[in-house]
Amino acid sequence: MEWSGNLLAVLVLAAAAAVASGKSARLELVPAAPVASVAQRARDDRHRHAYISAKLASRRGGSRRVAAEVGSSAASLPVSSGAYAGTGQYFVKFLVGTPAQEFTLVADTGSDLTWVKCHGAGAATPGRVFCPKNSESWAPIPCSSNTCKLDVPFSLANCSAPASPCSYDYRYKEASAGARGVVGTDSATIALPGGNVAQLRDVVLGCSSTHDGQSFQAADGVLSLGNSKISFASRAAARFGGSFSYCLVDHLAPRDATGYLAFGPGGPAPRDAAPAAQTPLLLDPQMPFYGVKVEAIHVAGKALAIPAEVWDASKNGGAILDSGTTLTVLASPAYKAVVAALSAHLAGIPKVAFPPFEHCYNWTARRPGAPEIPKLAVQFAGSARLEPPAKSYVIDVKPDVKCIGVQEGEWPGVSVIGNILQQEHLWEFDVKNRFVRFKQSTSCTR
Ligand SMILES: *[C@@H]1O[C@H](CO)[C@@H](O)[C@H](O)[C@H]1NC(C)=O
Ligand SMILES: *[C@@H]1O[C@H](CO)[C@@H](O)[C@H](O)[C@H]1NC(C)=O
Repeated sequence: MEWSGNLLAVLVLAAAAAVASGKSARLELVPAAPVASVAQRARDDRHRHAYISAKLASRRGGSRRVAAEVGSSAASLPVSSGAYAGTGQYFVKFLVGTPAQEFTLVADTGSDLTWVKCHGAGAATPGRVFCPKNSESWAPIPCSSNTCKLDVPFSLANCSAPASPCSYDYRYKEASAGARGVVGTDSATIALPGGNVAQLRDVVLGCSSTHDGQSFQAADGVLSLGNSKISFASRAAARFGGSFSYCLVDHLAPRDATGYLAFGPGGPAPRDAAPAAQTPLLLDPQMPFYGVKVEAIHVAGKALAIPAEVWDASKNGGAILDSGTTLTVLASPAYKAVVAALSAHLAGIPKVAFPPFEHCYNWTARRPGAPEIPKLAVQFAGSARLEPPAKSYVIDVKPDVKCIGVQEGEWPGVSVIGNILQQEHLWEFDVKNRFVRFKQSTSCTR
């Protein structure tokens, strides 16, 4: 892994912290390491976006053919796109098995299957591997079960004997990252407030004997926070009140700054003065993604002219929130409008080239009185307005250089709100009531 620059932080969900009762569980996210170059992250996000688009297209076309292509070319791993190579993502510590074995996993709202590196993953694999044999609570899922046939993404069709284990094969073509293995269930241990722990039984867990690419050098696997029957988020939310929440600290924050992932009550804290904004979650039973309805994007207080279809999932547009994407990807018409408005305001500042970004500025060469970064706001349905800090969309790519940090996505196509745009906010995914609530939290304390 190339650790160049300090642009993006990896957050490790490290320790449990005290909250109130056994009705919730909370884990801390701490920056663990600097990450690969932002250019690499931009490429990785594009791979991931291609995957998300293909997955959505397979549903929208209602076409088995497309779905089969996605599955068979295995172009499609929400969890192991090239994005993981650069680790601009969030890691959580996860205890699984009896006795518990500990792993560092990528926390991924775009993923439906939790998996860990397993025995047989190869001698070259650094880090830990899970040994099902050493876990009293591990139970393989048979390939003939409905869970295998209907719920496990990319389960393999071969099932010669009904009791054979359920196998999966995720591969990501271009980024050549992926995983193959068998699925079972096991007990997960989560730390509770006050130093106690809770066991969640029958957590669906992939045991990956093979994983490709540079991807999982820093992480041992993926913690699925997507909306799916078998995801860890669904399992934990069912136990802890139907919701989960996270707060992402600034990606440039020092190592001791902490964010968290929490299950159960305790999203955007009611004791804070400002109420949280709330917008409906648009959930699709076939997809793990958390859709939201964007109504407008404002720059410097002015609504941009973006065709309404861009935000309309029924017209192959729409937007999702994704913790596994770093840089926000906007479908072309939205991208063009946003970039035109931001760059118009920044026009007086000397530009520098920093591909793949189109608009980068030499911030030290700004003359006195040079324009400030204009305010950007994303207006969601239900009067919820996200007003990210300027550093979340005009991002530092190296000392003295800032770039407009959004990427252009295909149109028609989905827009993805990445984790930099989500930083310094609390996000509560109230899956039970189908709302997402958010509010600013600079330090992610509560
Ligand atoms: C299905 O095929 C894969 C790859 O060919 C193999 O690894 C796996 O063991 C097979 N699974 C079953 C249940 O036969
Ligand atoms: C930015 O401008 C300063 C002063 O004008 C110059 O010294 C520096 O090399 C420039 N940096 C880049 C990355 O172009």
